[in-house]
Amino acid sequence: MAVDLLLGLQWGDEGKGKIVDVLTSNYNIIARFQGGPNAGHTLVFNGMKHVLHTIPSGIFHENAKNLVGNGVVIDPVIFKKELDKLDSQGVDYKKSLIISRKAHLILPTHRLLDAASEASKGKAKIGSTLKGIGPTYMDKTGRNGIRVGDLEMEKWKQKYRNLANKHQSMISFYDVDLQYDLEELESEFFEAVKILKSLEFIDSEEYLHQAEKANKSVLAEGAQGSLLDIDFGTYPFVTSSNTTAAGACTGLGISPGSVQEVFGIFKAYTTRVGSGPFPTELFDENGKTMASVGCEFGATTGRPRRCGWLDLVALRYACQVNGVTQLMMMKADVLSGFKTLKICTSYNYKGEVIEHLPYNIESENVEPIYTEFEGWSEDLTAMEKDSSLPISLINYIEFLENELKIPIKIVSVGPDPVSYTHLRAHETEADLVCRLLLEK
Ligand code: IMP
Repeated sequence: MAVDLLLGLQWGDEGKGKIVDVLTSNYNIIARFQGGPNAGHTLVFNGMKHVLHTIPSGIFHENAKNLVGNGVVIDPVIFKKELDKLDSQGVDYKKSLIISRKAHLILPTHRLLDAASEASKGKAKIGSTLKGIGPTYMDKTGRNGIRVGDLEMEKWKQKYRNLANKHQSMISFYDVDLQYDLEELESEFFEAVKILKSLEFIDSEEYLHQAEKANKSVLAEGAQGSLLDIDFGTYPFVTSSNTTAAGACTGLGISPGSVQEVFGIFKAYTTRVGSGPFPTELFDENGKTMASVGCEFGATTGRPRRCGWLDLVALRYACQVNGVTQLMMMKADVLSGFKTLKICTSYNYKGEVIEHLPYNIESENVEPIYTEFEGWSEDLTAMEKDSSLPISLINYIEFLENELKIPIKIVSVGPDPVSYTHLRAHETEADLVCRLLLEK
């Protein structure tokens, strides 16, 4: 079995949904391995925009199996809403959607705990999506969680009650005014659990082992980004799972040796939603332009995203931690019209120039050092098949490739689906012609 990984290399929202949608038709199985409904993967399929939160992005492809792996946390209520949307669009998911028995469930009280914990932090809040992600992973590692497989056992409701009661006393421990109607939340939850139970639960690691024997191909789809990884991200302003390559092994039960390609997705600039350090953040007109041209609003929460120049120090780090073999650069079109572009190539860290990501990148410690590039003015979204990229964009791409020693295989030049995604031919350096990745 060949397993390829698709990962975001920044603080999430790199445009993974679009790439995964382009790639899915090449794979037998699309598997989500971590995170939960804090993610929002935007896909445009058959002219319609879809936002998926927990369901893998292969769901619109007839022949792909879509696995929600053991590393994912599932909120039945949000999951049901996603299914309702698919139903209304006539997507037949019953046979193609499979769920690991070992995936953990987000309970209504997990969401409440998330809200209480964030409110109690005041200015130090993480900026969580408040989907109950942190509390659910805490119960997982604390060995208290409820798993999808528990739903097949008669006594699961007792287990649920015990845990929900415990959560309630924990909520009252926080000194915050949280108004909620648990009865109402629970009735919605139990209804949604019924729908979840109508789907196929499997021993997913065994399923993948059998797939390996049958020579099937798997695309493991990451959520969030490497800088939000619980271990390697900008802790504590991170999510609660391993968003990096290693998370695919623990979140699916595959061996490191089965991983082949690691596709790393990054934006031509940087964004971040929520709190936490962001050395290249822009507070000027340039940042505002990136936000408005790039429509930088969170797909899950609608919150405005913070914008800044590309941070090569952080990108280099993410490539190393993940073992990226191919890069894909998204939203190059958003940079059209900037006279000068900047890439942060090193940091002035407490008076010393460094090129690696240090323990603490808070602004009082780190000052970005930039290399400047001439911008381009061409509207990239209007590019036709076989037209050439502007020379300044080529310089930008080649600079990154030389620094990272990893080829940039796809340069996305527009918001619309694959017809605007260009694959850069890589045979020779002089071969700077773009061609359409897929022709529709
Ligand atoms: P949580 O995972 O919802 O608790 O959020 C923790 C941090 O990760 C917050 O700063 C969120 O804004 C951020 N985050 C979580 N999921 C995503 C995502 O899918 N894209 C971008 N940021 C995210």
